[in-house]
Amino acid sequence: ASGSGRWLDLAGRHVVISAGGTREPIDPVRFIGNRSSGLQGYALARTAIARGARVTLVAANVALPDPAGADVVPVGSAEEMRKAVIEASGAADAVVMAAAVADFRPADYRGSKIKKAPGAEPEPIHLIKNADILAELGQRRRPGQVIVGFAAETDDVLANGRDKLVRKGADLLVVNEVGADLTFGRPDNAAVILAAKGEPVEVPRGAKEALADVVWDLVSQRLE
Ligand code: CTP
Ligand code: CA
Repeated sequence: ASGSGRWLDLAGRHVVISAGGTREPIDPVRFIGNRSSGLQGYALARTAIARGARVTLVAANVALPDPAGADVVPVGSAEEMRKAVIEASGAADAVVMAAAVADFRPADYRGSKIKKAPGAEPEPIHLIKNADILAELGQRRRPGQVIVGFAAETDDVLANGRDKLVRKGADLLVVNEVGADLTFGRPDNAAVILAAKGEPVEVPRGAKEALADVVWDLVSQRLE
């Protein structure tokens, strides 16, 4: 499944990939969610396995078949994803945060379903910040561990991406321009990959597998 020079270059490596979109519960039947199909994260998992890696796939709310050979950890909310990713990443060689993590969650979870009151307007939902998992990975990194983030931007794509790469302490940041159905739920993707050390790499529109293979090329270069 991989191009020349990529054959089993990740053999003996353990990689952790997050995929999908977290859901922040409001009450037992409602949530605040993110638009992410999980396709890019699953493509990263399949290509890493094809190149010989052991893969832990932390999957939030995806409707996709488990990639053969991956250790899949299902999660719901951002906080569940944080616990699963941090636990799996301790000894990992690389961590790729392809998931859309909700930035905010409802400040209080209602244990019973919110009902309409006749004639009354709804109560506002107060939000609080979720922890930034990628920034935490950047801070906790082991020597030699490679940390990769994704960023979906609608404006000033490269400037925002560069800023985010530095702020989060990642080695690589895959920047997609989103909006107008450019990415979500589609089998293809286009991106610029920014590097803390090195030149940006432009990946033309193509299969999410092709983008995944370029990500693993850059990760592989950074693992001695
Ligand atoms: N991310 C994360 N934890 C969060 C939010 C984001 O780990 N609480 C990760 C995403 O998985 C992604 C990267 O950070 O790999 C960038 O996500 P993005 O939403 O683009 O960045 P934010 O820092 O949340 O900034 P913004 O205000 O643009 O949403
Ligand atoms: Ca965000």
